[in-house]
Amino acid sequence: MPEKAFYVTTPIYYPSDRLHIGHALTTTMADTLARYHRMRGYDVWFLTGSDEHGQKIERKAKEAGVTPKEYVDRIVAGFQHLWKMLNISYDDFIRTTEPRHQEVVQELFRRIYNNGDIYKSEYEGWYCTPCETFWTERQAPDRLCANPDCRRPVELVKEESYFFRMSKYADRLLRHIEENPEFIQPVTRKNEMVSFIKSGLEDLCVSRTTFDWGIPVPIDEKHVIYVWFDALTNYVSALDPWGKDDSKFKKFWPVVTHLVGKDIVRFHTVIWPIMLMAAGLEPPKRVFGHGWLLVEGGKMSKSKGNVVDPLVLIDRYGADAIRYFLLREMPYGADGYYSEDALITRTNTDLANDFGNLLSRTTAMLEKFCGGVIPEPGDPDSLDRELMALAGQVPGEVERAIPEFQFSQALAAIWRLVNRANKYIEETAPWGLARDPARRGRLNTVLYNLAEAMRIAAVLVTPFMPDTPPRVWAQLGLTGKEEAQTWDSACTWGGIPVGARLQRGEPIFPRIEFKDDEPAGAAPPQVVDAKAEVQPKGEEAELIGIEDFARVDLRVAEVLAAEKVEKADKLLKLTLRVGEEERTVVAGIAQHYTPDEIVGKKIVVVANLKPAKLRGITSQGMLLAASVDGRLSVLTVDRDIDSGARVK
Ligand code: MSP
Repeated sequence: MPEKAFYVTTPIYYPSDRLHIGHALTTTMADTLARYHRMRGYDVWFLTGSDEHGQKIERKAKEAGVTPKEYVDRIVAGFQHLWKMLNISYDDFIRTTEPRHQEVVQELFRRIYNNGDIYKSEYEGWYCTPCETFWTERQAPDRLCANPDCRRPVELVKEESYFFRMSKYADRLLRHIEENPEFIQPVTRKNEMVSFIKSGLEDLCVSRTTFDWGIPVPIDEKHVIYVWFDALTNYVSALDPWGKDDSKFKKFWPVVTHLVGKDIVRFHTVIWPIMLMAAGLEPPKRVFGHGWLLVEGGKMSKSKGNVVDPLVLIDRYGADAIRYFLLREMPYGADGYYSEDALITRTNTDLANDFGNLLSRTTAMLEKFCGGVIPEPGDPDSLDRELMALAGQVPGEVERAIPEFQFSQALAAIWRLVNRANKYIEETAPWGLARDPARRGRLNTVLYNLAEAMRIAAVLVTPFMPDTPPRVWAQLGLTGKEEAQTWDSACTWGGIPVGARLQRGEPIFPRIEFKDDEPAGAAPPQVVDAKAEVQPKGEEAELIGIEDFARVDLRVAEVLAAEKVEKADKLLKLTLRVGEEERTVVAGIAQHYTPDEIVGKKIVVVANLKPAKLRGITSQGMLLAASVDGRLSVLTVDRDIDSGARVK
């Protein structure tokens, strides 16, 4: 059988700022594709990286008073940290400042130049630095960026430049698009691109002389290569096409899937394939342009102050909840919306109520009625057969949906199975069967079927939510039983072994309280915001009575032990002594205190707060801390006083 190869890429992100939840969306989609294809036996290569050159980065570095390299190094480390926290299983991370990339960019430039498709001339036109895009007078008559998602002012650029003869390839590209219906997806973007090309392609300016932060033009070191020419090349430079060992390139090019946001489809489906054609290489197989993730106020931007940091959300809700939300909420190819309330609602309904509950109910009944062991099933009746038939159908639906970028549809199919199984519990009422010894066989069949449906659902969610299945395996007694965790095993009923011993555990997706009635839950910690305190009080400033304050039970607590919470950047798990009692409190202070620094301190806690679950740990209270401008200080007492003492 020929080896099946699957190569998936994300855009390489600009390290001009930290990444936001919109970037996490593309990368999560790519990761899901990579994980799915690995499970299906493909040889997978998953590439992501950073696009480090260009005028925008050079300016940002100057503002920060550091060199461009120092500037990007710090931010790129942040990218890699985010991907780790989000469980992104990339095989390679390419940085455009690496020599392996620069050599290929220069060679590609040289090849196109030698073919006669790059020539020197004078450029006069408009440039959008945030988009790193050239516009002609006709395209930007109002001196604003012609990208409808940008519309920021453009700058006049007049300099000697090298030009790439794109116009020569327009007909060949149109033919390629027509002959390869999967090349540009969804079809609406393909239609946009076809009309863009038909409206006339202009030659592209591919070098700059007015700044230095880029890869030198190999034939003329006064120039640096245009940042998009540089960046797009990453998809082949990472495969080392002209090195001693070109096996990776041979295997993975051009069977590539480029995932990009809709705003950069043009670069990937017009400039990039023409660059490849001009250099004698094949154009990429597929480019999928997804929609934007919008937040309250529309597009995320620093100036609007609505940028959502995925790390904060991962810390609060876990990586799988964020991944599930992104993949489930984004409609195919169109824009989707993020809000924290929508995220909490999705998590509570789909993950806690549907998926988590199916596991809890199934394992609770298996424990109660079968001594925690998977029983031998009997002959199926019509209800059982209906459940089995659905379980037989869903994997196929998921298999069709994922490669077509229909992530939401794939998850909806899996949830049909989860919900059918939940309904099956009501229909078969195992607790009733348990009362009648004559129905023991039927009870065993029902409980077996539930455990099996749960197993299949857990296999199928693996590419989407990789942290979840191991937790299901642990509870179903399947840890280490890899044959029951493969994709193929989910396509055949009966993979859960009779006799497997369960390990019931905590709910895998505890319900999240909405922010308004959330017991502030210690993470983020209760913060006495110094800035807010010095604001002049308006007329409506609400005053509270002493009786309101008296409802809060503040106590002195001694920190006995502290440790970092796994996979939660900001959280420390503290063991406190409050009078005679020992308590666990999870506090969002890990970026400000090491465990050693906090142990031994006497701090102040809210002792009568409803317990809250954070990262599976029940937090019994909340500590007080003050913060301003990103600095934080935990409140302590300034004389030695017994723990448990009331603070009033
Ligand atoms: N560096 C270029 C890409 C070069 S690829 C050869 C770039 N970088 S970017 O960091 O500005 O954007 C990267 C990707 O993030 C783009 O695909 C863009 O569409 C996507 N997104 C930025 N904001 C987004 C949302 N709010 N929602 C979804 N995707 C978003 O462009």
